[in-house]
Amino acid sequence: MAKRRPVIAGNWKMFKTVSEAENYAVSFLEEVKDVTELDIILCAPFTALYPLKNELEESVVHLGAQNMSWADQGAYTGEISAQMLLDVACTYVILGHSERRELFGETDQEIAKKVKKALAAGLTPILCVGENLNVREEGKAAERVQGQVTLALSSLSTEELSRMVIAYEPIWAIGTGKTASSKDAQEMCAAIRNTLTDLMGLNAEKVPILYGGSVKAENIAELLNEPDVDGALVGGASLDPLSFAKLVHNAAAVVARVVGI
Ligand code: 13P
Repeated sequence: MAKRRPVIAGNWKMFKTVSEAENYAVSFLEEVKDVTELDIILCAPFTALYPLKNELEESVVHLGAQNMSWADQGAYTGEISAQMLLDVACTYVILGHSERRELFGETDQEIAKKVKKALAAGLTPILCVGENLNVREEGKAAERVQGQVTLALSSLSTEELSRMVIAYEPIWAIGTGKTASSKDAQEMCAAIRNTLTDLMGLNAEKVPILYGGSVKAENIAELLNEPDVDGALVGGASLDPLSFAKLVHNAAAVVARVVGI
């Protein structure tokens, strides 16, 4: 198992109205309120963040957003600032998700600016990286992913880098039911850690690296048993509070087994 405190983050994507989010929070919290072995995060749509702030206050569940602007404030129609996220008690923000890159044209340069801004504001960025199927079949997956990490992070100080979370999400495994094998996930998370070591030396050992792509209650334990996989970013399987709670409990059981609780 990894040496870092595990992180299990749900990414709801563009699902859930305010009332659905509130109902979810009530059932989910009831199920996970005693989980202390890992960090739990819910990354909700913007409109659900304020109601969730109230529901999750003083609970074990942290709140995250799914995107953010690189600008502080001003004439940026449709954008949301870091300050606005802090205002609704967000502590995490997903940046550079493959859906933002592929469907909305986000570039590595924009993502780098967003990461810098989130860190300056005191938010923890969850930087997503990952290759598509063509790149994997050409044997260039590691090169692509390490390149994305370098482009997003190379202007950061060691102090800033040590406040990051990285998520490796192979695009071919997102929403497809195809999970990368735990060996594939380990291999790429280790490659990402090598890139981090180039950027920040031994401090790279402290950065949580998550895997994302068809993670479910049934496969989380195997993934978490790998030394460089520190948790998961979960899409579809985070949408139902009881199944997501089961996934969280299965992850907590891996930690408990290793530390002998
Ligand atoms: P799925 O878990 O639905 O494959 O989505 C993964 C993902 O994109 C999380 O950010």
